[in-house]
Amino acid sequence: MTNSHKVVVHADWKVGTISRHIYGHFAEHLGRCIYEGLWVGEDSPIPNTDGIRNDVLEALRKLNIPNLRWPGGCFADEYHWKDGIGPRESRKRMINTHWGGVVENNHFGTHEFFRLCELLETEPYICGNVGSGTVQEMSEWVEYMTFDGESPLANLRKENGREKPWKLKYFGVGNENWGCGGSMHPEYYADLYRRYQTYVRQYGDNRIYKIAGGANVDDYRWTEVLMRKAGSLMDGLSLHNYTIPGSWENKKPALGFDEQDWHETMAKALHMDELITRHSTIMDQYDPARRVGLIVDEWGTWFLPEPGTNPGFLYQQNTMRDALVAAIHLHVFHKHCARVHMANLAQMVNVLQAVILTEGERMLLTPTYHVLEMFKVHQDAEALAIHGSFGEYESGGKTLPQITVSASVKDGVINVSMANLDPVRSADVSIELRGAAASYDASGTILAADHFEAHNTFDRPERVTQRPFEEAKWEDGVLSAQLPAASVAIVRLRAKA
Ligand code: AHR
Repeated sequence: MTNSHKVVVHADWKVGTISRHIYGHFAEHLGRCIYEGLWVGEDSPIPNTDGIRNDVLEALRKLNIPNLRWPGGCFADEYHWKDGIGPRESRKRMINTHWGGVVENNHFGTHEFFRLCELLETEPYICGNVGSGTVQEMSEWVEYMTFDGESPLANLRKENGREKPWKLKYFGVGNENWGCGGSMHPEYYADLYRRYQTYVRQYGDNRIYKIAGGANVDDYRWTEVLMRKAGSLMDGLSLHNYTIPGSWENKKPALGFDEQDWHETMAKALHMDELITRHSTIMDQYDPARRVGLIVDEWGTWFLPEPGTNPGFLYQQNTMRDALVAAIHLHVFHKHCARVHMANLAQMVNVLQAVILTEGERMLLTPTYHVLEMFKVHQDAEALAIHGSFGEYESGGKTLPQITVSASVKDGVINVSMANLDPVRSADVSIELRGAAASYDASGTILAADHFEAHNTFDRPERVTQRPFEEAKWEDGVLSAQLPAASVAIVRLRAKA
């Protein structure tokens, strides 16, 4: 069964710049994300660079990751950064109380994180501790990282082998302070934010972009209070929302789902559009110029942990359903690029909607990885206006659009990405390009599989992978593409000379 859709892309109507930071990632001290997923230590038999595993590094580099958020998450508001500096063998061993109660040996700390960012050529985004840390502790961390000169903290950094300060732009003042970050009311956190951020100093020419801890899902009151009481003192305000079929208390598995679960997941992913619209509307009242960015620094699917794994490690498989969730979110972020300045997928390796899974020395790329790799051409491109008919995908009396589409232009090349949310019916899409050159060369890439639950395993790591989208054709001013059920594609249009 196929449905037809007509879409118009306005090549001469730019609606804003898609910040590359919308393609950011998040790595927390949680389960096997940092330890094993990224950090194996210099003495590991797994080939590594300064303790960071080479296979994972190589795969991540291909994503052009613009920023990496660390060390949490809930871990951030229990993290005391001085535990993670100095000779590794004498670093404190502590309990990771939030995530599985396992020993955290602090072998991956500030210096190792900046090394990882250097190797990935990505900007560090550090989240400070408000929940259980002091103003002094946060202030000293910033001094340690960014002060160039004579000071106790800069001297300590030098003693630990780093002469020059690092460049640090993004700094979060706490995480989920309504919950694991201190169970605060918005009024109380807004006052604490005002106080803590005062001591997040701008040393030398280092300019910190300060991100206030934002709302949980649809807590619009939190956004209103924060903007009213502290909007002028922040550069960004965060928002967290996970795609959770079932409910927070009754999550569902990552594998073994049916079409109804699929539909529910698509609906919940699309809900991000409404959340951003409503939080932005509140922000507009206090910040009509949209100076303050909405920073969606945790998004992604959250299923039951894989059977047989530590439930506190949040390890889950990743299927074509996750690929669609990723495409939907990225399209929504593009649409709201005037307000959404950054977003971070949770999380990078082995946790929640990971782009990479590892098992000892083996690793695999998930369907989500492929979407991020295909869509990276949208980074820093100009989003183009789109209108059209996106069809209907109905299940259980609830209707969603069958397809979502996004287009951008950069260096004269137009990229049109598409997702078919329907797990059963293909979609015939014809895209008319208005206001542009008459003729184009089209080439595309598609991610599709033989089943909507298809995923990669360590024994079959390439079941789901990208292939050339040869079915996409440019003819008589129209791009025609047949999208198989449950697929994601991108077509690149380059004007003919
Ligand atoms: O990403 C997992 C957890 O989800 C983070 O630690 C927390 O911020 C959120 O609740």
